[in-house]
Amino acid sequence: MTPPFASPDDVRDRLTAAGYLADGAIATTVFLATALGKPLLVEGPAGVGKTELAKAVAAASGSDLVRLQCYEGLDEARALYEWNYKKQLLRIQASTGDWDAVHDDIFTEEFLLERPLLRAIRRPEPTVLLIDETDKADVEVEGLLLEVLSDYQVTIPELGTVTAARTPIVVLTSNATRELSEALKRRCLYLHLDYPSPERERDIVLARVPDIERTLVAKLVQIVATLRTLEIKKPPSIAETIDWARTLLALGLADLDEETVSATLGVVLKHVSDLERARKELGTA
Ligand SMILES: Nc1ncnc2c1ncn2[C@@H]1O[C@H](COP(=O)(O)OP(=O)(O)O)[C@@H](O)[C@H]1O
Ligand SMILES: [Mg+2]
Repeated sequence: MTPPFASPDDVRDRLTAAGYLADGAIATTVFLATALGKPLLVEGPAGVGKTELAKAVAAASGSDLVRLQCYEGLDEARALYEWNYKKQLLRIQASTGDWDAVHDDIFTEEFLLERPLLRAIRRPEPTVLLIDETDKADVEVEGLLLEVLSDYQVTIPELGTVTAARTPIVVLTSNATRELSEALKRRCLYLHLDYPSPERERDIVLARVPDIERTLVAKLVQIVATLRTLEIKKPPSIAETIDWARTLLALGLADLDEETVSATLGVVLKHVSDLERARKELGTA
């Protein structure tokens, strides 16, 4: 199978075309992961563009996105496949034949409920499998992921072994609320995403909110960068910086004076204590 990207520069250009601004580290790691056919593990705080990166890689490589959202209690039945018990029961009730025939009938494709991992493996079209917020799933799920990601095949006892028609590009994300297992990490290439530099964040905001004044955005990202250095509960994410820019645009504000900052700070900070702390620090209290 030919790799989807020709070089790190090619990755960067095509991500940009898809609306995602990548720096050198992102472009290089995505290139290597796709060239080597290895899963990419993207770790970092909330709102730095992990999920968006997977979506952009899908768009940039002409793939469809299949997403497995992880959460506490996620199990094989939700991640891989399960049998449609209701439908099986109806078929059993309606059947008059002997049990063996019924049994063979109800464990067929028709009764299989495909979940994201199985779907991603079976799709013949180019696919990006996003395993989002992996750290939210229970540790046992990692065993399952490891199994699926090691040989891209799944054994369904009643149906046999399903082997990937075409290996998907796999992106796992984690907010690092806990350490993922060494075994899973070993299988992946690792990318740490952090808050962008003010310059890159300015460009990201301008890409998303093109109508806003450049100088205003430059001020905005500086303030956001300052806020992130404070000891606060929830530092503002890129998404919140973008929201802030949209707010200023919607209010028709051309400058970021102290009053404006103080009045609109709630767009980026969502805890009373964070707001108080920030107002004191920025001298707008
Ligand atoms: N490099 C980037 N280029 C363009 N937009 C970005 C970039 N990084 C983040 N964003 C914006 O930030 C928002 C939040 O990113 P998201 O991927 O949801 O964060 P995470 O998954 O890390 O919590 C996205 O919807 C997107 O608009
Ligand atoms: Mg996310």
